Amino acid sequence: MRVIIRKTYEEMSKEAAALVKKRLQQKPNLVLGLATGSTPLGLYRELIRLHQEENLSFKNVRTFNLDEYYGLAPTHQQSYRYFMDTNLFNHLDIDKKNTRVPDGMAADVEAFCLAYEEAIRRSGGIDLQVLGIGGDGHIGFNEPGSSLASRTRLVALDEQTINDNARFFARKEDVPRFAITMGVGTVLEVREIILLVNGAKKAEILARAIEGPVTSLISASALQFHQRVSVFLDEPAASALKRVAYYRFSEEAEKKIGREIF
Ligand code: GLP
Repeated sequence: MRVIIRKTYEEMSKEAAALVKKRLQQKPNLVLGLATGSTPLGLYRELIRLHQEENLSFKNVRTFNLDEYYGLAPTHQQSYRYFMDTNLFNHLDIDKKNTRVPDGMAADVEAFCLAYEEAIRRSGGIDLQVLGIGGDGHIGFNEPGSSLASRTRLVALDEQTINDNARFFARKEDVPRFAITMGVGTVLEVREIILLVNGAKKAEILARAIEGPVTSLISASALQFHQRVSVFLDEPAASALKRVAYYRFSEEAEKKIGREIF
């Protein structure tokens, strides 16, 4: 894993955006996997700036989002489709037809999940997946105990996730109890991963995820099985890591040899 630590949230977001830009320049029809939550907002703001001020184009990009609340229509202000449109897609030259978010209103969920996996395969597979981490260590909505081989499916949300996300809803009772999420196995098949984590609140769970044993109780720990993961952190999020000196040394080494070291 590459672990890139920056002083502030802004700096870490810019650094992550620089990696997306580089990959987009290497492959203009990049297939991007995207995440929601407050963590990637800084990255999305910077991508919008790169588009508006530096002409970075998303015209040929296709995207797949990780997850969606089950039971929320795309027009619902807390749906992840609405989040993606308002925080990213509406501000880019991307073709909305090429942006996919799981359908929270799917009547036949199982058929929908199979079709979502099939659509990912037909696109040629996800080149670069953006991830955050939940307070309980989840990626997507793969709650503790999710099989590390799991695929896109309907899941029940954990109590901690419902509490964490209650801040976005008028009342805790309004938080959906279910979601559709790509599985851990689905995520592990992408070609490259960006994991973004900021703030002291996530420091402990992040350290357990990347420096602790791999366990289905922390689905982010499965990323240790992936060959190309870049973790972007601000200093508070890095505060519980044991190997910070090595990560900094490795980043210096990257600069010297002019290539990424995973
Ligand atoms: C939700 C999403 C995750 C996200 C997590 C963290 O549960 N399903 O994909 O990583 O929240 O959210 P935040 O970035 O707001 O801490």
